[in-house]
Amino acid sequence: MTASLPRADAFVDARAGRKLQTLTSESVHSSASAGSVFLPGPILLLGAPGVGKGTQAQRLMADFGIPQISTGDILRDNIARGTQLGKAAKTLMDQGQLVPDELVNGMVGSRLTLADVQRGYILDGYPRTLGQAEWLDSHLMSLEESAGAAPLPLVAISIQVDQQELLRRITGRRICPVCKTIYNIHSKPPQNDNVCDNEGSPLQHRSDDTEQAFTERMKAYHSLTAPVIEHYGRQGRFREVDGSLPVEEVTASIEKALRQLRQAGE
Ligand code: AP5
Repeated sequence: MTASLPRADAFVDARAGRKLQTLTSESVHSSASAGSVFLPGPILLLGAPGVGKGTQAQRLMADFGIPQISTGDILRDNIARGTQLGKAAKTLMDQGQLVPDELVNGMVGSRLTLADVQRGYILDGYPRTLGQAEWLDSHLMSLEESAGAAPLPLVAISIQVDQQELLRRITGRRICPVCKTIYNIHSKPPQNDNVCDNEGSPLQHRSDDTEQAFTERMKAYHSLTAPVIEHYGRQGRFREVDGSLPVEEVTASIEKALRQLRQAGE
């Protein structure tokens, strides 16, 4: 199967470039003070579809001045640009199934070579299989060996929300295709119906945000991603946070947990 897969690293640069731009325009306002005193290091945001990983990653990116690396966003960007990777991923994503490990590992490995990850980064929606977690752990170990210095270790945050609420969030989600701001018709509607507050663009409803695809995504989450959460739980540098609280309170819990984990040197 590997032989027929497109090379993942060939498809990451455009997306990464846009993330760097986003970082420049949106993050600097609050990152300068927070970022200079706190070194966030690599952060994993784990959790089921709709728990708020993307929402929280965007807020952490602004607060800490480090990039968000979302495998889902990189794949959707490839679909929008009609790349080989996008074509290989689209059917699987629409069916709520995971994209093969070797593709997403290649994307992440390529993204981690960019200079903006030095102070840290937020991995959003990756790793989500034990194979991806093992690949990431050994990739980071090899980067550490080649750098000759110990960087900050990974810390993992698992966000928890009950399944009924997840379905409501997923079906109510709308996204700006330009600035990627995440809205929700129930909890965070735009000021004007279906139009982005920042860009004025029509909002989009993700093609996998249907009840049917959500059921499949939850099956993949329980069978393949739950063991990843246990894997990082066993390593100790791990906290669970209640994602059912208002967005600002979830951010505060995550940031508190991150500071505690870094202070403890866990
Ligand atoms: P991906 O894009 O990663 O989707 P996901 O993990 O299913 O997560 P979501 O993006 O759906 O939700 P989220 O947790 O980011 O929630 P959000 O902040 O948007 O992956 C999509 C697909 O790509 C996968 O199914 C797979 O096919 C493929 N893929 C991606 N990564 C892969 C990998 N590593 N390996 C293999 N395949 C991969 O919030 C949801 C809604 O809730 C929003 O409307 C938001 O406004 C609202 N909301 C957020 N927080 C709150 C709150 N506290 N209170 C009320 N509403 C809230």
